[in-house]
Amino acid sequence: MIFDGTEKIIGRGAQADVIEYQGYAYKIYKPSYPAEWIEFEKSQQEAVNRAGLSDVKYYDTDDLHIVKMDLVVGDVLEKKVREGFTGAFDILADAFRKIHSADPVRINMPRLSETAAITLSPEEKESLLPSIDRLSAKYKECICHLDMHFLNIMITDDKYNYTIIDWMNARIAPPVFDYARTHVILEEFAKDILPYYESVITPDMNKLELLPEDYAEAIKICYALRQHEK
Ligand SMILES: Nc1ncnc2c1ncn2[C@@H]1O[C@H](COP(=O)(O)OP(=O)(O)O)[C@@H](O)[C@H]1O
Ligand SMILES: [Mg+2]
Repeated sequence: MIFDGTEKIIGRGAQADVIEYQGYAYKIYKPSYPAEWIEFEKSQQEAVNRAGLSDVKYYDTDDLHIVKMDLVVGDVLEKKVREGFTGAFDILADAFRKIHSADPVRINMPRLSETAAITLSPEEKESLLPSIDRLSAKYKECICHLDMHFLNIMITDDKYNYTIIDWMNARIAPPVFDYARTHVILEEFAKDILPYYESVITPDMNKLELLPEDYAEAIKICYALRQHEK
């Protein structure tokens, strides 16, 4: 894959740079990043395309470490927050509702309980897998994004329409894990706004009849899983 110098960087993550080039976005992974994880990310995107949660298609290139994507024209929600926008959590809550109401049937996406069993240590597995199974049996499972924050939502117009990106972590799980995962991320990066986040999502959690103790248990599990990402 050769670029002609007109490309420009539009995003930087821990494992990849994202550039804009000739009307498309390209995700350029570090050479050390396992190619099979990139294949997994592509299959995840295909699953969310099929579920109607994103129109952004991923395409192969001649380089296994470069993925071509439809370009989302707009700004990440985080930029809007820096510019003074105060409705970001309402958008986040709306994104959760949209994702959790999508039909998870006939899509190829792993369940959280399966992948957690691979990630966790033997001791953690013993204590946490039964919790995941209990919560998965108690609440209706759906697609969960599991990395929902202001850098993974792009605002595409001045009416605050948005596109959700970065579905690598998405799993089939009960929605409580999505709310819990965002709690863990905010605790790490923006602790001061955590109470506000929780006040915005509480009505939706109540509608789902999610008990506070189940939310607390899911936070514990998401915290343990998060430690393995580092
Ligand atoms: N299809 C796209 N169109 C436009 N910008 C994108 C696109 N995909 C990613 N980006 C930009 O690149 C950043 C990092 O991409 P992302 O897929 O979230 O990777 P990471 O897994 O490293 O967080 C995003 O926050 C966004 O700014
Ligand atoms: Mg991201």
